[in-house]
Amino acid sequence: MTGFDTLPNAPLQRLDLSWLRPFGVELAVLRLDLIDPLISGNKWFKLLEHLRVAQHLQAPGVISLGGAHSNHLHALAAAGKRFGFATAGLLRGHPQDTATVRDLEAFGMHLHWLGYAGYRARHQADFWQPWQAHYPGWHCVPEGGGGPLGANGCALIVEQARSQLAALGWSDYDGWWLAVGTGTTLAGLVLAEAGAREVHGALAVPLDHGVPAQVQALAGDTGYQLYQACRGGFAKVDETLRGFMTACEAESDIPLEPLYTGKALLALREQVESGAFTFGTRLIFLHTGGLQGRRGFT
Ligand SMILES: Cc1ncc(COP(=O)(O)O)c(C=O)c1O
Repeated sequence: MTGFDTLPNAPLQRLDLSWLRPFGVELAVLRLDLIDPLISGNKWFKLLEHLRVAQHLQAPGVISLGGAHSNHLHALAAAGKRFGFATAGLLRGHPQDTATVRDLEAFGMHLHWLGYAGYRARHQADFWQPWQAHYPGWHCVPEGGGGPLGANGCALIVEQARSQLAALGWSDYDGWWLAVGTGTTLAGLVLAEAGAREVHGALAVPLDHGVPAQVQALAGDTGYQLYQACRGGFAKVDETLRGFMTACEAESDIPLEPLYTGKALLALREQVESGAFTFGTRLIFLHTGGLQGRRGFT
């Protein structure tokens, strides 16, 4: 289990979109989607500290959980294959044949389908017990690589952007804009910014998923704002979103997926058009990857 400690660098690029220009909002995008063909997006950062703990404990393998299109399990399975540790994935629902699941199998991940009720039990205190008995000594990573370890890894994202500002001709920036699922990535940015710049999170999940409480537990009460952006449900994709993504991709050559980055960018347009940002505001949009999951939507 070696090599995962060397984080790849994400390019910071100008993102000049026609709907930003009338409002004078300048946008750059930190392309975490480009850091690796498989361990893409925010996932490497979210896994980093978890893998350090697993290495420290000399765990023979790492177990985590997710759905049949999970970007997190995909990255974990790829990391296991690349860096030489065993992986097991606990999956929501009943066996499904998706492109993601086929990749998980190809990467050598052991798969266990928990059904829906079994998966809902994941927050119970004794959830991991049978899996720890089944895989003695393996390290268990919460859903999505979340918690304080995930957030600490994501705090490293901020420096990647700061070190490239000058090359963009920017002396500074005013804030971040990103998609939020569990809130772990946002919490990492909030911790790293320590109130110096606002972190704006577009919620890809409904409010009853408890994200505000999770973010508060990880990063406190200030330094961020959350916006509802799920458009009726996590997996809901409507024509407005599809049209918006097609137009943005045509203008910018930056690939988006509908569940996170597409919804986050559309929520940014809504805020920009409502006058939420003053002329001259400079924001960094965090491209959190997830493009492998797009295969479920073609
Ligand atoms: C592509 C993508 N973007 C954003 C997120 C949200 O990240 P977080 O759960 O840290 O809020 C996820 C889920 O982990 C994701 O897969």
